[in-house]
Amino acid sequence: MCNASLGSKFIVSKVHDEYNINMKKLIIGMTGSSGAIFGARLLEVLADTNIETHLIVSKWAQQTLEHETSYTLDALRELAGETYSVGDMGAKVSSGSFHTDGMVIVPCSMRSVASIAHGLGDHLVHRVADVILKERRKLVVVPRELPLSTLHLENLLKLSKMDVTILPPMPAFYNHPKSLDDMVDHIVMRILDQFDVARELVSRWDGKMHNNSKRIHPIK
Ligand SMILES: Cc1cc2nc3c(=O)[nH]c(=O)nc-3n(C[C@H](O)[C@H](O)[C@H](O)COP(=O)(O)O)c2cc1C
Repeated sequence: MCNASLGSKFIVSKVHDEYNINMKKLIIGMTGSSGAIFGARLLEVLADTNIETHLIVSKWAQQTLEHETSYTLDALRELAGETYSVGDMGAKVSSGSFHTDGMVIVPCSMRSVASIAHGLGDHLVHRVADVILKERRKLVVVPRELPLSTLHLENLLKLSKMDVTILPPMPAFYNHPKSLDDMVDHIVMRILDQFDVARELVSRWDGKMHNNSKRIHPIK
């Protein structure tokens, strides 16, 4: 005979065992556009939190990482909780039944933008993004290309219409960055904001205008 109350008690305790309800689970996809440092820095910051990270690095992301930064793929993977091979379409993150708080693709190439916008699922980053979309979870894309073609813009618009957050790594100057690190940290902080993870990596806009023009002699 089925005992409904016993059954539901069992399910509740199992859920508590498997999911620490205070712990976020984030998937980080890195693809082959310039700007690997944004992904690496994000992982560095997340490594200092209790957020569970799941990392997938595409073949060309590895190439750009090693070209643009002092990181090797192995060193990068050390920062993540779990890592997956980009060809492993059977990885647990490829299923919607693996619950997460969302995914960020940083940096995101135009090839990956196109693949995700059209649901191609070419490799694990694209497949997982497809899963995030079908499960209507949070997807943040940090696209990098310059300039952007009409096709790039159309693909990004397609994603935006599916509630994907398009967060291009555009530098801000209103907080007076002192270095490239400050600029990178600003973008990383804004990515974390999207997942309600507050990290004060650089100063935020404080509402106070610094009027340097007073130092300049106005043209009469
Ligand atoms: C050094 C380097 C920099 C690149 N930068 C960009 C870029 O900024 N944006 C982009 O869309 N593709 C860029 N690419 C091209 C992508 O790596 C290429 O389209 C690749 O197929 C992307 O595959 P993935 O999205 O599966 O990683 C770059 C390639 C290299 C080698």
